[in-house]
Amino acid sequence: MRQRLRTGLAPLHDRLDARITAVCLSPRADLRRLLTVHAHALPPAVAGLRAAGAALLWPEWDGPARLSTLSAELGLGAPPCGASPPENFEGDAMAWGGLYALLGSRLGNRVVLRRLAEAGQPADSAFLRPGADDALEWRRFLDRLEAALGPASAGADACNGAMEGAALVMKRYLNAVERLVRAERIGEPLH
Ligand code: HEM
Repeated sequence: MRQRLRTGLAPLHDRLDARITAVCLSPRADLRRLLTVHAHALPPAVAGLRAAGAALLWPEWDGPARLSTLSAELGLGAPPCGASPPENFEGDAMAWGGLYALLGSRLGNRVVLRRLAEAGQPADSAFLRPGADDALEWRRFLDRLEAALGPASAGADACNGAMEGAALVMKRYLNAVERLVRAERIGEPLH
């Protein structure tokens, strides 16, 4: 299941990496811009996953707490609520996919922090900083995902659902990057 998700979503991930890098990391690296992208993309994903019962699927899920960390780092009074309605994860398979995208997105943070540091930007972001337990948690999460949706259980439909759920989150991030570019072009305040 994990291999299918990884392979199926690779084109979308490549686009995301390229766009976030171009807009937030290179040639000018800007931590705040990157966090602003998260502030637009994360709230609807977290709200949708909450509504879909993600905390029952993966009790260690810390999505709401991550939103608080993000708002504190951006100096916002409350967790960013985002202008968009919650993402709609229809059923467990889609919610597993959404969780996969959010948890997986943290794996790239080491690379992101390195690029920020190389550009002389602060690399001590509380939101981006990897947790000591991240790798273990990711392993445990993948085991649970396989057990819940793998070939021994739900099969092909579940894989499509998970792919769809993960793609929703990734597209939300792509939209957030393009929105930031548009807002900056017309001088609209971002936060
Ligand atoms: C500049 C931005 C990004 C960079 C440089 C980046 C980089 C990476 C890297 C290096 C990995 C592999 C880490 C490892 O195997 O240890 C990874 C995995 C992953 N990333 Fe990203 N990433 C970025 C943005 C995102 C975003 C915004 C999302 C989702 C919203 C995302 C979702 C994922 C997922 C789901 C995986 C796990 C794939 C798997 O191995 O199953 N990434 N990323």
